[in-house]
Amino acid sequence: MSPHVPKHPIQIAPSVLPADFAELGNEVAALEAAGVDRIQWDVMDGQFVPNLTFGPAVIKAARPHTSLPFEAHLMVLTPDVMASEYVDAGCSRLIVHAEACLHLHRTLGHIRSLGATAAVALNPATPASAVEHVLDLVDMVLVMTVNPGFGGQAYIATMEPKIREVRTMIDAAGLGDAVDVEVDGGIAPSTVAAAAAAGANVLVAGSALYKDPAGLAHAVAELRSLATAAACG
Ligand code: DX5
Repeated sequence: MSPHVPKHPIQIAPSVLPADFAELGNEVAALEAAGVDRIQWDVMDGQFVPNLTFGPAVIKAARPHTSLPFEAHLMVLTPDVMASEYVDAGCSRLIVHAEACLHLHRTLGHIRSLGATAAVALNPATPASAVEHVLDLVDMVLVMTVNPGFGGQAYIATMEPKIREVRTMIDAAGLGDAVDVEVDGGIAPSTVAAAAAAGANVLVAGSALYKDPAGLAHAVAELRSLATAAACG
């Protein structure tokens, strides 16, 4: 493998949480123009997390404005009930929280039966072992690097051993080429290298992209460059 090509392709998946909600069609088009790989919708139900955000109709309205894949980060108490609505709205990947699923194995199979790819998110206090017996049913594991519910929070560096543990578990199961490791929360130029070096290859960022004075394209390129260098390190 070339020293400059990471083992797992680096993907930038922006959160639209900081975007202008009155202009979501234009915002997702701008993210595509800025060079992101996919778009993450932070779906919050006001119960699993204190905030309330995007229903399926909002995502459906934005769908025609970009060709990029949509993933729904379901920070909700009832992912089984909501899953089909978000697939119908145009999300090709659904991320459910292990903490919200009484029957996680069944939920992941249900998501795949809908034709979407499936991912599990782990809150900071949830151990990597929570996904040990469902790795054959996931296409990605999301290691939260903040407590879910709000953008603009500080990166929790103590999650790095968990990122490494999840990546090691996936690779040991022979699933390294099939299963991504995503991180979400406080990802910025100052934190992205440590997360990528620990094994994350899909990077969710919101605040860091939107507050870059040089614009979205610069922010995306900078995160990608730093993550790629760290992953090859
Ligand atoms: C937390 C959200 C945030 C968001 C990104 O529930 O999931 O992590 O996507 O927030 P930033 O990049 O602003 O920390």
